[in-house]
Parts: sequence; C-alpha cells; structure tokens
Amino acid sequence: MDVRKGSKDGRVKDGSTHGVLLLNSNGMDVVYGGNRITYKVIGGVLDLYLFAGSSPELVMEQYTELIGRPAPMPYWSFGFHQCRWGYKNVSDLEGVVANYAKAQIPLEVMWTDIDYMDAYKDFTLDPVNFPLDKMKTFVDTLHQNGQKYVLILDPGINVNQTYATFVRGLEDDIYIKINGVNYLGQVWPGPVYFPDFLNPSTQKFWGREIKLFRDLLPFDGIWLDMNELSNFITSPPNPSSSLDNPPYKINNSGVMQEINYRTVPATSLHFGNITEYDSHNLYGLLESKATNEVLKDISGIRPFILSRSTFVSSGKYTAHWTGDNAATWNDLAYSIPSILNFGIFGIPMVGADICGFSGNTTEELCRRWIQLGAFYPFARDHSDITSNRQELYLWDSVAASARKVLGLRYRLLPFLYTLMYEAHTKGTPIARPLFFSFPEDVTTYDISSQFLLGKGVLVSPVLKPGAITVDAYYPAGNWFDLFNFSKSVSAESGKYVTLDAPSDHINVHVGEGNILAMQGEALTTEATRNTAFHLVVVLSSSKTSYGQVYLDDGETLEMSGENEPWTLVSFYGALQKNSLFVASNVTNGRFALDQRWIIEKVTFLGIPKHKRVSYMNGRGSMKKMVVKTHSDDSSQFATIDVSELSLLIG
Ligand code: GLC
Repeated sequence: MDVRKGSKDGRVKDGSTHGVLLLNSNGMDVVYGGNRITYKVIGGVLDLYLFAGSSPELVMEQYTELIGRPAPMPYWSFGFHQCRWGYKNVSDLEGVVANYAKAQIPLEVMWTDIDYMDAYKDFTLDPVNFPLDKMKTFVDTLHQNGQKYVLILDPGINVNQTYATFVRGLEDDIYIKINGVNYLGQVWPGPVYFPDFLNPSTQKFWGREIKLFRDLLPFDGIWLDMNELSNFITSPPNPSSSLDNPPYKINNSGVMQEINYRTVPATSLHFGNITEYDSHNLYGLLESKATNEVLKDISGIRPFILSRSTFVSSGKYTAHWTGDNAATWNDLAYSIPSILNFGIFGIPMVGADICGFSGNTTEELCRRWIQLGAFYPFARDHSDITSNRQELYLWDSVAASARKVLGLRYRLLPFLYTLMYEAHTKGTPIARPLFFSFPEDVTTYDISSQFLLGKGVLVSPVLKPGAITVDAYYPAGNWFDLFNFSKSVSAESGKYVTLDAPSDHINVHVGEGNILAMQGEALTTEATRNTAFHLVVVLSSSKTSYGQVYLDDGETLEMSGENEPWTLVSFYGALQKNSLFVASNVTNGRFALDQRWIIEKVTFLGIPKHKRVSYMNGRGSMKKMVVKTHSDDSSQFATIDVSELSLLIG
C-alpha cells in the first residue's frame, strides 16, 4: 500500500492511496525501492491487481473484497492469553491459572504447547504428565470460571504403525508424495508424513481426527504451528528436475538458502499432480481453512485458530502471531511494524509473543512488553522451553503494570470488538499505522514506533531500556490520556512531544472527534460484559464526534448479515452553543438490548475551560440540565461526567 505524497515537491497532501497485489504462490523476491516495487518470481501465474482507493480504508475495502474479509473472532479471544513451551504437567498449568487469579491479573485463555502430547503426536495426551482425566478436569474448571483452553497441532503425523491417526491417514491416502511414495520428513515426533491439504480427502481425515480428540477434551481453539511447512531435514535435490534447484535463487531465509532448505522438497506432489514448487506457500492457508471448517461444523460457533504460516486471504480463517521473536528490545520495537503489516495484509487479529519467545526476558523488558502487548489485537505471553519463566505475576512491577494496562484493555473490549466487526465487514485493520487516520499528514508515513487502534486511540510505547520519557508524534488535534482524562496533548498541526513515561506507564490517548463505548474492568471478558457502559465523548471544535459499538453474543458464527442477532449502535456527540448532546442510532437491532446494556456514565472531554454548559441527551424532549464542569489547573480543558443510569445503550 502506498499513500500518495503528491506533486513533484512531495507536498501536495491529498492522501490518496493505492494498493498493489501480485497474487502468486511461487517463490519470489519482493524488492521495495521507495518509489518502485520489483517482483522476481520463479513461476506460476501473474495476476497483478491495483487498488486505486482514495484513502487507505478504501484500498483495504477493495483488497479484502477480492481476497475475502477477515473472519470474525470470538469475543473471548480479545482477552489475555498465557502460553509457554515447557509447562511440565497439569498441576503446573493449574498453578499458573491460580497465580494469575491470586495476582488479580486478567487471564482469559490458558494454552498448551507440544508438551501435552504423547511423544509429540497430534491428537494424543502424555499419559503421565497430561493424562486425560486430569486434563478434562482442568479444562472443565477453566470453563466454569469463564476461561478458555487452546492447544497446539503440528502438521507432521508421526510414522508409527501403533498410532491410530497415522494409520487412518495411510488408509485415506492423504499424505504428500514424492516419487510415488509418501514423503518422509522429520519434525518433533521424529519421522513424519504431512497431510496434503490440497487433497479433498484430507478435509475428512483432519475433521475426523479433530472431532475425535475434541470429544475427549473440549478445547476452545486450535493453534496451527510449523505449517510453512517446517521440516528438520533438507532432502537432497532431484538431479533430473530443475524444481529442486531453480536457476534463479530466491533469497530464502534471508541468506539465499537452497529452495528445499528444511521444508518439503519442491518436486513433491500434492493432489492433482500439483508440485510443492507451485503450492508451497499455500500450505498454512489450506490448513487454516480446513481447520476453520471443521471447528464450525463440530461446534456450531465461531472458531478461533492461530496460524504461524499465512498467505493472501488467511485472515478469512485465522488469527496470526509473528512467530519466534526474541526477548530483546529490538524485537519489542519490531513487533509494531509486524502487526501493522499483517493488518494491511488482511489479517487483523495479530500479535507478537509478549515478553519475547527465545532467550531470557528481564523484568524491565517484560514490563514494557506487556504495556505494549496489552494493545496488540491478539495479546499472548509465550516463551521457549529453554528460557526463564515469564508469567506476568512473577515480578511485582510487571504484575502492577499488567493490572493497569490489561485493566484498560478490558475496559476497551467493546471498542476492540467493534473494530473486529469493522475489519470483518470492511477489511479495515484493528491496529493501524497513523497514516490511516491522517493520510494528509506526510510525517505519519514513516512512523512505526506508535500505532492507532481504530481511528483514534493512539498507543505510544517505550521501546528502549532505561527510558522514562517517550518522544511521540501527535497528529493535529487534541488528544486525551485514557488513564487520566485531565492530561492532554494539543497539536495545532502534527508535532513531536516528549511525554513522561515512568516505568509503570504507557501513553495511550484518544483523539478529538471520537466516541468510545467502554465497559468496566474484570478478570474475564465474560465478567466485563456484565458491567455498565461508560461513553467517552471527545469533543471536536470542527466536527461532530462519532463512535460505534457492536453488540452480539460474542460467538455466533456470523457477525453480520441482516437476519443475524446483532446490533450496531452509532453515537454522535457535540457541544453546540452551550449545550452538550449525545445521540444514538441503531442498525439491525436483532441482538436484544436489555438491562445489561446500560450507559451508566457519559464523560465529555475537551470542553473549553470555565464554560458553563447544559446537557441534553438526544432523545428529543429529554431534560436539559445545567452541568458544572470540573477542571484540572494543569489542563486547558474541562471534563464533565453525566450519570445516565437508566439510559439503555440504544
Ligand atoms: C515453534 C513455534 C513456537 C513453539 C515451538 C514448540 O518454534 O513457533 O511458538 O513454542 O515451535 O512447539
């Protein structure tokens, strides 16, 4: 995607944007040269698309109309997730869950990595450390507490005649082939065959195995790893085919590795005689698609899938994490452009391993990481088996920060979930680069150390060790601190500001013109949904403030569609003369608005100081009341809270 910088001097700021997609699944190098992009492709079809939207949002709308709009994610998946490779047994898992509760840090989802399996075989449980009866009790208890459980699956099926899944796969004849036999790879369980997701029978095989296992253990989501396909061995090239050794060497792994390096050889064959050479990049997409279909079928509710490998249109089926990062400050910073890219690719539910995957994190790094990670669309702490433990309660300062930032995340859940709806219906990312909302401001184009949630929540994290201030860019407008409304930044035109960022704080601001529907804090998303709403109206001198909240049960398969049970409420608010008002408008309305959906409080931000204003809610003849504003001496604005108590959200 490129935002137009305008005329020759680069100063015409019309913000018009275009997108380019080369839809090709072969190996390629993509070289971006600032004002040009070069594709060097080693095969396949050249389907080149240009999207000439007039704004970044419109480019996303066109692009996702072509490739498929992002899948709706269940409400719970916006809670906080804890994972680690190396949990020892069920009591280890129980201890982690209990420690989160004790520390009063929200924990929504507990994960297990390959440790739960019997000798790393998919659809099995380690009979000693993760036996079925104990795992079942563990998962049932999570569910009773409003929490969820997600487990990992790897594609490689262990070659082992005593392993029922393997034998059924042989009978179904669904493995990838080479020279007329099943291709033998090597992954965690040792020798493996790989299911061929281009083969229609694989859908049946995969579906049956998942169903059989879910009947035993009622997991809530599936994590698809190693699906690039990752292989621990590199098979020698077939000398009679150029596919294993093509004349142009793409920059594989960033170091021009041979094309077969630690994957399935390019000469392997999929169903219909399609070569791995042509379809390699589609494996993760096809596996995600198959898994999504199975979960829909067997549960009847919205699936949650997390996939490491993705391709164009993976967002239709899965969430994504950025893979094995390291517990370094560099990777903390790098996580921002990574998640922003995936949003633009059409995979908006994305996050990086919080506190870092490989290597030992530190208290300071983990604290800064949860401060940032709390605002990733997908927020999961995950670490490598050889690194020190890094659950958020392990250090007092990290725990305190986690309570603070996850507290804000949970209050923002209705907003995040509404952004999911927007992503699903229009393709707009949840986390966005600044230029999405300010395409006419050329300074925003290069910023990848901050990002926006939706149109107007600006996250400006500390990314350096020892820092207690942050230099952050504020596009034109008034911005209000979401932790402390009376603190604000005003920028007549965009400017860099140095803000305090003490060790327990991340700067998160909401910009003028936005209305946020927030709810109360709680330890699970289910519990937050029983708290009253708080509407935050950020006044703007130039326009009516606007915001939306999308409501449904959080798990119905479809998030849109006329006859589906959902309700979208749009809010409008402004200060006109001396009168504040807020009005709302309901779309669809098939999700019943009952006593659960009450706005307890409306806060207006950005009222000129010392102004006496009256308030009128937008329901025609509503009472007018004179409201005295309260102001903070250090702020140029006053704030008022109006208790609405009985106002149903619509
Ligand atoms: C891969 C994954 C990582 C996982 C590990 C063990 O490295 O990327 O997240 O913990 O495999 O399954």
